[in-house]
Amino acid sequence: MATETLNIAAGLNFDFSEEHLMIQKAARDFAKNELLPGVIDRDKNAIHPTEQLKKMGELGFMGMMVDPKYNGGGMDTVSYVLAMEEISKIDNSCSVAMSVNNSLVCWGIETYGTEEQKQKYLSRLATGEIIGAFCLSEPEAGSDATQQRTTAEDKGDHYLINGTKNWITNGKYASVYLVIAQSDLEARHKGINAFIVEADWEGVSTGEKEDKLGIRSSDTCSVMFQDVKVPKENRIGEDGFGFKFAMKTLSGGRIGIAAQALGIASGAYELAVAYSKERQAFGKPISQHQAIQFKLADMATEIEAARLLCLKAARDKDTGGNYDLSGSMAKLFASETAMKTTVEAVQVHGGYGYVREYHVERLMRDAKITQIYEGTSEIQRIVISRSITK
Ligand code: CAA
Repeated sequence: MATETLNIAAGLNFDFSEEHLMIQKAARDFAKNELLPGVIDRDKNAIHPTEQLKKMGELGFMGMMVDPKYNGGGMDTVSYVLAMEEISKIDNSCSVAMSVNNSLVCWGIETYGTEEQKQKYLSRLATGEIIGAFCLSEPEAGSDATQQRTTAEDKGDHYLINGTKNWITNGKYASVYLVIAQSDLEARHKGINAFIVEADWEGVSTGEKEDKLGIRSSDTCSVMFQDVKVPKENRIGEDGFGFKFAMKTLSGGRIGIAAQALGIASGAYELAVAYSKERQAFGKPISQHQAIQFKLADMATEIEAARLLCLKAARDKDTGGNYDLSGSMAKLFASETAMKTTVEAVQVHGGYGYVREYHVERLMRDAKITQIYEGTSEIQRIVISRSITK
């Protein structure tokens, strides 16, 4: 499947280099050899993949696009999409941690941080020595991200941060948080700032791990800030830049989640194809029954379209194109494809699809979050329609 689809993409001048193919193979091998063996147990018992993420850091998957001078891989976004797809076929608790660290935390600091911030934080985040988290969502500020109630009071040489962030991926395991907070309520989004906050600073604490439907071994929790003193040099960008920082960072993040959704869909599809060729019913493999053929054909077609949208968004990001638009299109379509494909993959497996051992039920549970985080499908539609009508 992967080779055939790469050829289609190559026909549209995606021009995969030897390096792209090597990265894709390295991610595929790593996922099969290192992530697959314990993935069912980690999901069942909600065990954080600490060791697995450490290995991913050693292999360069946690800071793929970061400049080598800050210990990153210096790769392009296309490489990142290829790797994300492969990891996400197997373990989405690992791939979401990878996505947040790469696209939100590393990219945000590398693009908008000061040299000191890059030296101090990025060079350790890029190797996976430490991981980061992105703290935007709040109990009352999800889709409507301007409604930040976490405050960052300007105290001269430092800010004082107070508030609670919800649904924070990597919450308990992150050493560094990118925190979005309101410094001037009257100024609405123009009063919002972004900060780098260290997890072990006084006043920072985390809540209970959420008991989730999918990506169960991924760590998601609330992060609380009580009178946290943040030095001024830890603000990212100019005063009031925080909302734009969050939006721009999320635009790139959506490409990572689109690639995750693509991986969920293609992982479930590959399992469904393999099963349908083995499973016999009415005297022949079920892959030869039209009821199953129609499902597989629809899955293959939609996955191909999702892959092309992901690669287009990645290429836009690499070449200065409008990835606010193409990233949202990729995320919208790939996440809807992940949901549809995984439901159908369970159906192809019949009763076996409903039990853990066959992996597709986990992928179906994982698929749902891709329609919710880093902007729901409805938010992607808003971003797309605003972009095409402005
Ligand atoms: N890049 C740069 N600037 C942007 C931007 C972008 N992509 N999008 C908006 N802006 C700017 C606008 O230009 C505007 O600036 P000006 O006032 O100077 O013109 C400002 O931001 C406000 O923009 P809008 O008026 O469009 O803002 P809005 O209130 O209408 O909301 C929204 C826009 C798209 C709905 C936004 O709120 C949004 O994306 N919401 C979803 C939030 C989200 O994705 N949360 C995910 C949480 S993080 C997560 O899930 C990570 C994880 O753990 C996995």
